Amino acid sequence: MRFTKLSLVLLILLALVVPASYAQENENEDQGAGLTIGFSQIGSESAWRTSFTEAVIAEAAERGINLLFSDAQQSQENQIAAIRAWLAQGDVDAIILAPVIESGWDSVLQEAADMGVPVIIVDRNVNADESLYVTRVSSDFVHEGRLAAAWLVQETSGNCNVVELYGTVGSAAAEDRHTGFAEVIALFSNVQIIQSQTGNFVRTEGKQVMASILSSTDPSTICAVFAHNDDMAIGAIEAIKEAGLVPAVDILVVSVDAIPDIFDSMDAGETNATVELSPFMGGPAFDAVVAYLNGEELPKWIPVGGGLYTSRADYDADR
Ligand code: AHR
Repeated sequence: MRFTKLSLVLLILLALVVPASYAQENENEDQGAGLTIGFSQIGSESAWRTSFTEAVIAEAAERGINLLFSDAQQSQENQIAAIRAWLAQGDVDAIILAPVIESGWDSVLQEAADMGVPVIIVDRNVNADESLYVTRVSSDFVHEGRLAAAWLVQETSGNCNVVELYGTVGSAAAEDRHTGFAEVIALFSNVQIIQSQTGNFVRTEGKQVMASILSSTDPSTICAVFAHNDDMAIGAIEAIKEAGLVPAVDILVVSVDAIPDIFDSMDAGETNATVELSPFMGGPAFDAVVAYLNGEELPKWIPVGGGLYTSRADYDADR
């Protein structure tokens, strides 16, 4: 067969294009393209949670993953029901679970394991046998509490009465942040938590709780608020202002998440510090699903880091 110049060029182009598209296909598969993954999300109690949901949905779309999203509206029962429905339908390759609280997961995780459906835990932890899930992608909540306490101790030279705005009781994010914070202040005899009440990670509840504490406690005896998330801190700041006090001056404010609103609040001089919690856990969670399905061994914890920030400029400089 005789090749014209043109057909030779076409053949060369074909040789270049075919492996390239094959490689592209492989790359997409490595990203999880074509997989169906159930994502059981806690709800939308905070701005951080909403950013996290949006980031997971966007990441799935970019990778060509068919994401089945379920919003549990703060209910563990809803989360368990969603997981059971996915298992019954038999149409998920994996499940990503952001658990509202730590306890009560053994049965449903065992059901998933029995059906060979891998479960990846994201963000908050479960108090269950480690063999029942593949891995957990999360920050270190204890470390976040320690960082907040270390900043406060330094700022007050180890003299401070703290109001703690607790997150959801029984959730790893709240329990571990408390543990880390308490661990560090225990080293300083003049730093103590004088009030601790839950605001469930919700802005309006943070405000209500702080208003009630300010009405029952002499505000001059309160040195700082440690809020388990930025939303409750922002609620508390509103209550502090309504009580005629100056937030971040009369009462110091330190919290966790690093949402955009908290930097606006810092710009206004009303918040002192926040510990970053990255909302970008979808990528590592999807990578874990793909790696597991490819037969790879994974560590039981895939950490996601974050620092403490006292200004927007410092935060932006780290991006
Ligand atoms: O589990 C993480 C916590 O949950 C975030 O800090 C808080 O904002 C959220 O709702």
